[in-house]
Order: sequence, then C-alpha cells, then structure tokens
Amino acid sequence: MPYGFTVWFTGLSGTGKTTIADIVGPELERRGGIVEYLDGDVVRTHLSKGLGFSKEDRDTNIERIGWVASRFTRAGAWTLVSAISPYAETRATARGMVEEFGPFVEVFVDTPVEVCAARDVKGLYAKAYAGEIKEFTGVSDPYQAPESPEVHILTAELSPEDAAGEVLAKLEARGLIGPAVAASPRG
Ligand code: ADX
Repeated sequence: MPYGFTVWFTGLSGTGKTTIADIVGPELERRGGIVEYLDGDVVRTHLSKGLGFSKEDRDTNIERIGWVASRFTRAGAWTLVSAISPYAETRATARGMVEEFGPFVEVFVDTPVEVCAARDVKGLYAKAYAGEIKEFTGVSDPYQAPESPEVHILTAELSPEDAAGEVLAKLEARGLIGPAVAASPRG
C-alpha cells in the first residue's frame, strides 16, 4: 500500500515557496516518492482559471487545492502545495481534507513584506503600492500568519537550499521519508 502526504507551503507572494518546493521535489524523488506539485500560479491557469483575489475566490482556490491534494495523498503521492493561502481557517479546512488520508505538514515561508517588495521578482509589489493591483496580499489584503506551523522558515536567514534541507529534516524526523537512494525509480 503506498502512503502519501502533503507539504503545504504558505507565505506572501515572492517569499520563495515555489523555489523551495522545486528543490524539495527532486530530493523526494531520490527517496522513492511519486511527487506531485500544486503551485498557486499554475493552478490559477487551469483548475482555478477565472478566480480573482477576493476572500471568497481565494477560499475557493484553496479549497480546490486542498481537495486535489487530499486525492493525491490518498493515491500515495508526496504532494507539494505552494499557495499564499492567507486565511488560517481555510488552511485548516485544507488540512482537514488531507488528513483524512495522510499527514499534512505546514511550512510557513516567512519573509517580511518589505523584503518581498524590495526583491519584487514579478514586479507586482510596485503595482500594488501604486494602487494598480487591488487586494494585494501584505499590501492591501490580509495575511494571517500560521500560529504553529510544522516548519517555520525565516528566508532572510536561510538560502533556498538550506530551507529545503529544513523541510526534508522535518519529514525524516516524522518518519515520512528515508535517506536518499542512488537513483530515482523514475530515472
Ligand atoms: S491565494 O491567495 O489564492 O492562495 P495564489 O497562491 O493562488 O493565492 O496566487 C498568488 C499569485 O497570484 C501571486 O504569487 C501573484 O503572482 C499573483 N497575484 C496576482 N494578483 C494578486 C493579489 N491581488 N494578491 C496576491 N497575489 C496576486
């Protein structure tokens, strides 16, 4: 019987959630996992196409991602979710859906909004501060920080590689993954 779990990266836009997940994923494959990714930006081009950033639309987006993550987890996949997921109650809903089938590991990717805005990789913070984008998380929309995440990453102090290492260490400590094997079963 395969077993699955979900690692849920939450944090502001531009904190490095996707960057860290993209380092963790191949490491999980090296440990024999079938890995699936649910990235907010990607989900919004398919499953959640047409949704905006009101609380209602964000909740719908996160509930959809939670539902799919629960199915992946049930099927035995090691699922990596990267979505701002700003509302604590909605993250709890997603956790509940996943935990019907397997562990849920919340990773708070914690970067001060000033740092995200200074980096502004996608150029969205400048537009948000100029008022050109409304309801922008951390600028003109809320972000409810997790109170007791399984992993709390302060990106100002850690490289993405070290952050990924913290996530892997937590998964090892929980007994969810073993050491890396020489080659991934998928080649
Ligand atoms: S969530 O709030 O519903 O979890 P999600 O992670 O799917 O958000 O999408 C966030 C991405 O959408 C950001 O990384 C950014 O690229 C883009 N985006 C566009 N408008 C906004 C906005 N108003 N607030 C936050 N992100 C936005």
